[in-house]
Amino acid sequence: MKLSVQEYIKKIPYYPKAAMYGSEDGWVRLSSNENPYPPSPEAISRMMDELFCVNRYPGNESELKDAISKHYGKEPENVLIGNGSNEIIELSLKAMKHGTKNKVVISEPSFAFYEIASKIYGYETVKAPLVKMKVDLGVVRDCIDDHTRVVFLNNPNNPTGTIFNGEKFTDFLKNLPTDVLVVVDEAYGEFVESRAFPDSFSCINDYPVIILRTFSKAYGLAGLRIGYGVGEKSVISFLDRTKQPFSVNVMAISAAKAALMDQKYLKKVLNNNRKGKKFLYKALKALSVEFIPTEANYILVKIGSTAESVTKRLYEEKILVRWMGSYNLDEYIRVGIGTMDENIVFVEVLKRIL
Ligand SMILES: Cc1ncc(COP(=O)(O)O)c(C=O)c1O
Repeated sequence: MKLSVQEYIKKIPYYPKAAMYGSEDGWVRLSSNENPYPPSPEAISRMMDELFCVNRYPGNESELKDAISKHYGKEPENVLIGNGSNEIIELSLKAMKHGTKNKVVISEPSFAFYEIASKIYGYETVKAPLVKMKVDLGVVRDCIDDHTRVVFLNNPNNPTGTIFNGEKFTDFLKNLPTDVLVVVDEAYGEFVESRAFPDSFSCINDYPVIILRTFSKAYGLAGLRIGYGVGEKSVISFLDRTKQPFSVNVMAISAAKAALMDQKYLKKVLNNNRKGKKFLYKALKALSVEFIPTEANYILVKIGSTAESVTKRLYEEKILVRWMGSYNLDEYIRVGIGTMDENIVFVEVLKRIL
């Protein structure tokens, strides 16, 4: 059988998925920036209730929109729920399709799916290199021209864990040409400790921005696939029109609402992340291994020329970390902050390998 496709489809890169051996015993999974803890018991209980109702299509999105909008002091029309925040990345590109403006600006390195999604929808991508491992909004601004339609800003940036601050963000928005959508992906926003982090939600009515958050990270629901976007009502309505009906399942919606209500769980997760971060910083310093201080739940660690083989050695010991070769950072690995037990095992094995 012979089936032809357009050339641009053949050029779409595959998403660099991490190896997934998580459900088997004994693996330490620090490769996908996941929450190492099971979800909130409230979320599990709501999922169990919903199990008996899956003969019905999901009718509960509006309850979650209410909860999210209250959480941020907004209105339900400011909120869009997606099948992971990845779906909202796609919806932004779908809704913004335009006859002559066909460019997307992306920091490099940053989250791999921005480029993949842009290519799926036929956009040309323009890369704004990081400066000293940070997103530099001046460099991003210089990449924007009359053909730019969408800009992706990842804050904290994956894989570096670094942030840009509120002042720079406001300046950037003030100097933006008209008719460009800025997608601010704050997938790791809950983990940020720095007070300089922008209050991006306060910008939605003054600038064409949409803020993305997810239940996959701090709320521990990655396997359910649910995230959300917050933006000005008309922007949300444009994206919503391009969304498949019922793209988010009923269990995910109910669990996400319960997770959002369980701020005690979130506090515990953030506390453990803080402790794990301190522990790993200290251990890496003791090993004279360089790393980039992070505002997220992962650390970019500079191993040097042996980074790939160290990743393989860790794998042989059932520890999964991400070698950053696919991000053009050959000397680095990205290590998720795990439970304290996992962090200790990682450090002990790394020490032995090095
Ligand atoms: C920066 C960033 N944005 C978005 C996502 C995707 O999140 P979701 O699980 O909500 O689709 C990830 C996942 O790793 C990420 O790192």
